[in-house]
Amino acid sequence: MGVVVAVDAEAAAAEGAVDNPIDHAPPPQVGIGFRPPLGPWILSNPSEVEFVEVTAEHFFEEGDDTLQRLAALYPISVHGLGLSLGTPGPLCTTTLDAFSRVASLCKAAWVSEHIAFTQSAEVDLGHLNPVPLTRDSLNVFINHAMEVQEHCGKPLILENITTYLRVPGDIPETDFLNELCHQAGVGLLLDVTNLFINSKNHNFDPIHWLRRLDPAFIRQMHIVGYSQANGQYHDGHCEMVQDDLLDLASFVVSYSNVESIILERDANFPKTELIAKELQLLEGICVTARSH
Ligand SMILES: [Fe+2]
Repeated sequence: MGVVVAVDAEAAAAEGAVDNPIDHAPPPQVGIGFRPPLGPWILSNPSEVEFVEVTAEHFFEEGDDTLQRLAALYPISVHGLGLSLGTPGPLCTTTLDAFSRVASLCKAAWVSEHIAFTQSAEVDLGHLNPVPLTRDSLNVFINHAMEVQEHCGKPLILENITTYLRVPGDIPETDFLNELCHQAGVGLLLDVTNLFINSKNHNFDPIHWLRRLDPAFIRQMHIVGYSQANGQYHDGHCEMVQDDLLDLASFVVSYSNVESIILERDANFPKTELIAKELQLLEGICVTARSH
């Protein structure tokens, strides 16, 4: 079913069977998600920040000047929260226009959204929800992804979310992602924290999961520390990055041509010196992973 790509870059490299383009690619650019408490520091152009991701909805009503200042300093990606690509039916044209305007204003290198829905036909649920992994869902995403990409005139990448519920479906998640990217002509925003959390809460091997994913689709990563409570892992976006996440990110850099890794801190902000150190740590693992 679908496009299943068996991946074993290490084995291929060991056999000398292919000239791996990753060997010649520069390490991914390390960056951060723009948040108002970090704004003055990011706008001071610290050397640790090479790339910035902005959240589209934060700039729907105001902030054009900030967007333009950021665009003069960094390559930018625009991340959406509310297009609700998994909701059947037409996309909200008002939201899509606002999203596209932000992307244009900051000359975004690419735009991104989630593989999720946030709205039912009548209700804005206000958070990201998983879709059933079925042919019908896949077709909804393919059509919506193509529409967003065409409307914005920018490459679109789609992000895996955390799921606390296992929604019934009949397509393995990695097949779903491979086929979505292949059919819609889009890429992946691989959130390694979300993958790690799902692997813990649903008891699977994240490396095995990654080996079933076509690495050619991975363009950007998200990473932020997880938290644990009541026997589950959570993505509160308020912790320093842990070592097991760095290991997973390192694997992704070593087997894919990922171009950017974004630290996605939303709360409990430490001093910017600590954020800078965390970015230096990410740069270190990217350089090391890409050089081996
Ligand atoms: Fe994320």
